[in-house]
Amino acid sequence: MSRSLIVTIDGPAGTGKSSAAAVLAERLGFDMLDTGAMYRTVALLALEAGISPADGALIAAALDRSTLQVDFSVQPPIIRLDGRDVHLRIRDHDVTAIVSQVASHRDVRHRMVEAQRQVALTHAKLVTEGRDQGTIVFPNAVVRIWLDARPDVRAHRRADELRAQGIAVDDAAVLRDIANRDASDRGRAEGPLRQPSGAHVVDTSDLSFAQVVDRLETIVRESLAAAKVGCGGMSA
Ligand code: DC
Repeated sequence: MSRSLIVTIDGPAGTGKSSAAAVLAERLGFDMLDTGAMYRTVALLALEAGISPADGALIAAALDRSTLQVDFSVQPPIIRLDGRDVHLRIRDHDVTAIVSQVASHRDVRHRMVEAQRQVALTHAKLVTEGRDQGTIVFPNAVVRIWLDARPDVRAHRRADELRAQGIAVDDAAVLRDIANRDASDRGRAEGPLRQPSGAHVVDTSDLSFAQVVDRLETIVRESLAAAKVGCGGMSA
């Protein structure tokens, strides 16, 4: 088990986890890991190799022939697929449409969980966000956070993000997409989306982005103080 100081942030789509985790990590002087970006990169790999998102064994085999590298020289860090910067490509609709199915396969998840634990071995202070970080990957993390928001708020935020990228969207369609992805992430047998035990719960529905980050920073600093660990220290 890693001796790194780990803060996990889990929650459903559209709660603003990645953006909040990136700013929180910067404030605390921690590194940040976006595990959704890792699964998105696997989905891109499947798309590019022409592998069905339903075929976990073939995707896992393709993964074994490829390199997924988290590049911490960029802030926030990006994932490289065989050396290629794919951080914009993995946000495209075709990737988003299949990522939940790709992420449901045991063979894929085991490889990602292992890769995430490897990252923690070389990053002594890590904010990591996803769906299973506080439940499966780092259940002993010193701080576990569950970020949530009402579905309509999450859909509205995601639609605004897409519009900001110049993509025309309809809120109702985005809401359906988010609801489907959540149901799939919650319903899978392997590493399902669920609230970690002992997690600090933050409902972001009626909070601004700045308020969310402030709340998270307070939670982490108070938890570390209670555990008698400074931001520069190591967990036992
Ligand atoms: O956070 P995101 O939207 O980039 O995540 C993309 C998908 O990856 C999401 O549908 C669920 C999956 N995922 C997962 O299964 N486990 C994680 N730790 C992170 C993401």
